[in-house]
Amino acid sequence: MKPSLYNLIRPHYRTLQGYVSAGMEVAKDERKIFMNANENPYELPGLEGLNRYPAPQPPELAEAYARAYDVEADQIVMTRGADEAIAILTRLFCEPSGEGRAADSILICPPTFGMYGVNARAMPAELHEIPLRRENGSFTLDKTAIVKATTNPSNRIKIVYICSPNNPTGTSFSHEDISEICEAVQDFSVVILDETYAEFSAQGSMSADLDSTPNLIILRTLSKSYAFAGMRMGCFLCGDTDFITLVKTKALDAYPLPLTGIEAAFHVLSPEISAIAKDNIDKILAERGRLQEALSQSPHVTHIFPSDANFLLVEMKEAGKLHKFCAENDLILRDFSTKPGTENCLRISIGTQAQNDRLLELLGKF
Ligand SMILES: Cc1ncc(COP(=O)(O)O)c(C=O)c1O
Repeated sequence: MKPSLYNLIRPHYRTLQGYVSAGMEVAKDERKIFMNANENPYELPGLEGLNRYPAPQPPELAEAYARAYDVEADQIVMTRGADEAIAILTRLFCEPSGEGRAADSILICPPTFGMYGVNARAMPAELHEIPLRRENGSFTLDKTAIVKATTNPSNRIKIVYICSPNNPTGTSFSHEDISEICEAVQDFSVVILDETYAEFSAQGSMSADLDSTPNLIILRTLSKSYAFAGMRMGCFLCGDTDFITLVKTKALDAYPLPLTGIEAAFHVLSPEISAIAKDNIDKILAERGRLQEALSQSPHVTHIFPSDANFLLVEMKEAGKLHKFCAENDLILRDFSTKPGTENCLRISIGTQAQNDRLLELLGKF
């Protein structure tokens, strides 16, 4: 275990005995009779195999993820979406308040994805906010303020979240800046880089930096680029394989992944389906460009933030009213107009050509 990450986890995890499931003791094998996990021996028609618990972290699926994300299989923890990864990591690093104990903190750069804060508050852990700076019609990280806050020991910041491309702004942040932050805070905090939308970005992933950046953890998901949100499959990546082993043995549920998800993920990650998913990303990017261009002509639109993701954050003259008008016409957008940092903005997920046309038609009628 490299010193920096080991020192950052909550101390009791170092000695905690994780659950050893029946499936961990003896791997499933068709020649054996399994009477060790209180499973029902009768399979139901059409649901064969589902009477048995799945492998907690199937090695073959880790290999498939590793090929997709260009890392080694032992650098991956597979989770139920990136959401579950956030929950596990918050629990692992942040000491909650209580019984006279001060809480650890997370640092976020709002406007950003809400689940980082929700998980911290649920512990409860503290929240430090270093808002993104609005510069030249886009958003930038306040690197100096992030490093200053995180390296102040009294802030007890254990996790710095950077979402790139960022939800809801669509902004990508430079790999150089993120590397600098990782290095500057490495004795204090882990940096969780949320790459949920990386496949839509020109910049791509920072996975090549994992080996040289011990306090970097990257979140990935099949939800967006692989059109797989309903199956809840994602993962996190870390260069420190001792840390990955620690998570797998101490911090996961007994059977974290449903069998249907495991089997469907193999299918989605196959070369044939991946190629279709990649074509669809190209279509989404082309539509993003077309929609951006068309929206920029609308008198209702005051600004469109540059986006590296599969959505656009659009500032409108009457965002709230337009959101309502679209909803009345069965087209649902996300209203960020009353949230700090995204005043008067709607977030528009890029649809198919026909769906985007319908939005433009409604905008014309508004
Ligand atoms: C930035 C970000 N991270 C994580 C998630 C959750 O992803 P998943 O579906 O893998 O749980 C989302 C979902 O919208 C997101 O926008």
